[in-house]
Amino acid sequence: MVESLFLLVCLLDLLVQSSCLHTEKKAACTIEDRMADCSHLSLKEVPTDLPTDITGLDVSHNMLRALPGPALARYPKLVLLDASSNDITHLESGMCLALPLLRDLILHRNEVHLLIDKDLFNCTNLSLLDLSFNRLKLHGEPFLPLKSLTTLDLSANSLISARLGIVPQLWNLDTLILSKNFIKIFKSDDLSFLSNSSIQTLIMSSLPLKTLQPGCFQQIRGLRNLVMDGSVLSPQLTAKLSEELSGTSIASLSLQNNRLVSLTDTIFKGLQDTNLTSLDLSSNSLVSLHNSPFKWLGTLEILSLNESNLKHLTSTSFIGLGNLRFMNLTRALVKSHKSSYPIIDNFSFSPLTRLETLLMDHTAFQGITADLFSGLESLRHLSLSWSSVGLRTVNNGTFASLSRSPLRTLDLTATDILRLDPGAFSGLGNLTKLLLGSNFISQTLTGEEFQGLYNLEELDMYHNKRIILSPLSFNHMRSLRTLILGLALAQNQDFNPSPFQLLHNLSTLDLSNNNIANVMEGLLEGLEKLRVLRLQHNNLQRLWKSAYPGGPVSFLRGLHSLEILDMDSNGLDEIPLTGLSGLAQLRELSLAGNVLDHLRDSIFDDLTSLRFLRLQRNLITLVPPGVFGPALRNLSVLHMERNPFDCTCESILWFVNWLNTTNASVPQRSSEYICNTPPAYFNKSVDQFNTLSCKDMAPFYILYVMNSVLVLVFMVGSLLFHFQGWRIKFHWEVMVNRTLGFAEPGLGEVRFEYDAYLIHAQADSTWVDRHLLPLEEDKQYTFFVDDRDAVPGRSQLESIVEAMRSSRKIVFIVTEKLLNDPWCRMYKAHQAMHQVIEDSRDSVVLVLLEDIPDHRLSRDLLIRKGMLKSHCVLHWPLQKERVQAFRHKLRVALGSSNSVQ
Ligand SMILES: *[C@@H]1O[C@H](CO)[C@@H](O)[C@H](O)[C@H]1NC(C)=O
Ligand SMILES: *[C@@H]1O[C@H](CO)[C@@H](O)[C@H](O)[C@H]1NC(C)=O
Ligand SMILES: *[C@@H]1O[C@H](CO)[C@@H](O)[C@H](O)[C@H]1NC(C)=O
Ligand SMILES: *[C@@H]1O[C@H](CO)[C@@H](O)[C@H](O)[C@H]1NC(C)=O
Ligand SMILES: *[C@@H]1O[C@H](CO)[C@@H](O)[C@H](O)[C@H]1NC(C)=O
Ligand SMILES: *[C@@H]1O[C@H](CO)[C@@H](O)[C@H](O)[C@H]1NC(C)=O
Ligand SMILES: *[C@@H]1O[C@H](CO)[C@@H](O)[C@H](O)[C@H]1NC(C)=O
Ligand SMILES: *[C@@H]1O[C@H](CO)[C@@H](O)[C@H](O)[C@H]1NC(C)=O
Repeated sequence: MVESLFLLVCLLDLLVQSSCLHTEKKAACTIEDRMADCSHLSLKEVPTDLPTDITGLDVSHNMLRALPGPALARYPKLVLLDASSNDITHLESGMCLALPLLRDLILHRNEVHLLIDKDLFNCTNLSLLDLSFNRLKLHGEPFLPLKSLTTLDLSANSLISARLGIVPQLWNLDTLILSKNFIKIFKSDDLSFLSNSSIQTLIMSSLPLKTLQPGCFQQIRGLRNLVMDGSVLSPQLTAKLSEELSGTSIASLSLQNNRLVSLTDTIFKGLQDTNLTSLDLSSNSLVSLHNSPFKWLGTLEILSLNESNLKHLTSTSFIGLGNLRFMNLTRALVKSHKSSYPIIDNFSFSPLTRLETLLMDHTAFQGITADLFSGLESLRHLSLSWSSVGLRTVNNGTFASLSRSPLRTLDLTATDILRLDPGAFSGLGNLTKLLLGSNFISQTLTGEEFQGLYNLEELDMYHNKRIILSPLSFNHMRSLRTLILGLALAQNQDFNPSPFQLLHNLSTLDLSNNNIANVMEGLLEGLEKLRVLRLQHNNLQRLWKSAYPGGPVSFLRGLHSLEILDMDSNGLDEIPLTGLSGLAQLRELSLAGNVLDHLRDSIFDDLTSLRFLRLQRNLITLVPPGVFGPALRNLSVLHMERNPFDCTCESILWFVNWLNTTNASVPQRSSEYICNTPPAYFNKSVDQFNTLSCKDMAPFYILYVMNSVLVLVFMVGSLLFHFQGWRIKFHWEVMVNRTLGFAEPGLGEVRFEYDAYLIHAQADSTWVDRHLLPLEEDKQYTFFVDDRDAVPGRSQLESIVEAMRSSRKIVFIVTEKLLNDPWCRMYKAHQAMHQVIEDSRDSVVLVLLEDIPDHRLSRDLLIRKGMLKSHCVLHWPLQKERVQAFRHKLRVALGSSNSVQ
């Protein structure tokens, strides 16, 4: 019926959003580490298709009616069998026979009724048997064979007696649970079946117990822990219980929630002959502790009175608890709107000379009086958080009664403090931890408030009203390691000089939620040991703007040890280049909820230890490797969800590939990493970005690169050609000639008829006669001079060609006149060049009688000075004394080699 209803609902659901399959139970058993999980499968029988070597089988929440031996015999290695929440009505003797190794059998919430002798016959190896929430009816001695059993849970079985057998059995039993049965009377010999067992713990909670017969615990004198929570125990019955426990090994007694409203002075008298160390009386609505009820409990170390309704503690309340180490008074004194404030008398705690921990959270009492805590000579931890004790102003008298205690931690969280007076904690020189959060402190901290706290390591002032810091605020607490000032500071403080500079040991600083907008660069200077810095929810964006007057403020500079930095929600839209530099130890960086968009390259370069990066809820569009490469390299967790990603190849390709290959955890990766642009990807997951579309662009990219290179080469080429073309042409032609075989004949092999062919303008013949021809006189050189040596009758052209060929050098005597002589220009020069190129000779010598610019030479003679070796370009000197040098140079030029390098 229920099933079909479920199906119907599912079908309807299917029509709406086809989510039926998601809420469906799993379809088959799952196996992990040889443990088979077959729970919630509506099984009617033990599955027969599992691996036979499984050691654990969970068939809970099914519809099994029995655990038949033959079916289970398939799994002889089973150590654990969980068949809770089925419809099993009886146990079969074959089961344990089939499962010789079975140790834990859990049959919680079944219908097992009759349990007879043979049912557990061969269960000797069983260690845990849970038959809670069945309908057990025992016949004979069903538990007798369980020689190895250590834990037996028979809670909620409607048993009316604790007597589970007659003959001594269950030698190894450690824990017996009989809670929630109908046991009203606990008879003397009920537990005699445990007389030879080693039982340590007996849990008998929520019983309608009325009578304890004498000697009912004498059979189990080794009992150490007794839990009798949640029954209604009258003071008389409680006193009887103490009496019955007398002489046992009882160490811990739990009497929670027993409606024990008051404790008489003799109620625990019977326990004086025990070594009880722990007594739990919590949740009893206890109203009074008159007449020293604990005076019998000299060995008690732990007392829990939490959740009481105590009205008045007096100096006699705790008499006798000289060994107490721990007392829980949380919510033990409360004020209802009708009642008045409970009262704690002076010296109430004075008997507790060894008390180390006193928890008084969520209490209300009239006030901290001068000797309230006097006598707590060993107190190390006092907690008054969320208490209503009229603190308001803490002055040097408030905790004076603790000045003889070696107090280490004082928790005053949410105690309505408005003000700390000078010397408020001056007697607490051993204090290492002071918690003052969630109060209403509103004052300038001059430093004198914390006078005497030289050992303080942790100061928590999170969430106060309006604290103003001064340079000496922490002057008396130089050992401080943790300073929490979140949501506490008054606005518009400039912290100059920095109040933190004295705190050289500071390791954690929380300045979050303060709307801080203005700090100096030196705020955190010298905090070499700072590991954790919380600055979230402030207003620091202006400080990191490049437009900030004087440049961005590098207030993190020098924090070499910083490991955790939180700057969420600061309105940051820029991270300056040096903003995060030097933070080589940083493991966690949180910048969520800012308005960061384009980040500068290499801002994260120094963060080589980064493992956690949170950048969610910013305006980041592109994720380029230049910015994020170093930050993402060794990351364990990345939060960058909810940014308006631009899903184009340039912006996101690298990130998509990183996401695909990273081992880092990226929560909400498929649901919250959404493209905003371009329109084609709008509102789609970044995961859906098609990386192949970028690969298609690769050939185009190559084409683009090639094109650019070509254009560049062309441009450079044209420029080069424009300015140096002649040189290229010249050397090219020379090279072609040489490679085609018109190589220059070996030096000295060819004998020239003339040493030089002289080309000059007619008008310059006087100069030639005067300065060149004299060189011929001592038979040093032979020159060919047109008008003198041309063979008459021969054509002029022919003679020029012939003469040039048989001259070793061609000497131009360059003047304006030569350049203007068409014959010379048009023919002789061309021929000379031809000759030079054809012969691969470097045979031209220029003698410049006047200053002729290079461009005129090239235009008119097709020659540039640059073509020639420098010693082949000679200038006729104006000064006479240099003529000798000119001659020498001419000889060098005429004698130089003709080969072109
Ligand atoms: C108990 O377990 C041991 C192995 O630990 C096995 O040899 C023995 O047969 C088991 N006993 C029974 C009664 O199954
Ligand atoms: C099972 O228990 C019965 C009765 O104690 C005993 O006779 C038999 O030998 C046991 N079988 C095994 C395999 O332990
Ligand atoms: C008592 O328990 C021990 C093991 O702890 C066992 O050897 C002994 O036989 C038991 N005696 C009786 C009378 O059951
Ligand atoms: C309590 O402890 C003392 C000393 O440790 C011991 O002599 C005494 O027997 C113990 N009392 C009980 C009831 O166990
Ligand atoms: C003290 O009592 C409170 C309130 O019942 C409880 O929450 C807390 O766990 C107790 N503390 C210890 C250390 O037992
Ligand atoms: C406490 O402060 C008051 C003034 O505020 C001063 O007179 C007194 O001497 C101080 N007591 C101690 C013990 O410092
Ligand atoms: C702090 O503790 C030391 C021992 O640890 C003790 O000598 C000293 O007196 C204590 N100081 C105060 C103010 O309690
Ligand atoms: C992710 O990587 C695998 C191989 O490592 C590749 O087959 C797959 O196409 C990649 N997916 C994307 C979206 O790049």
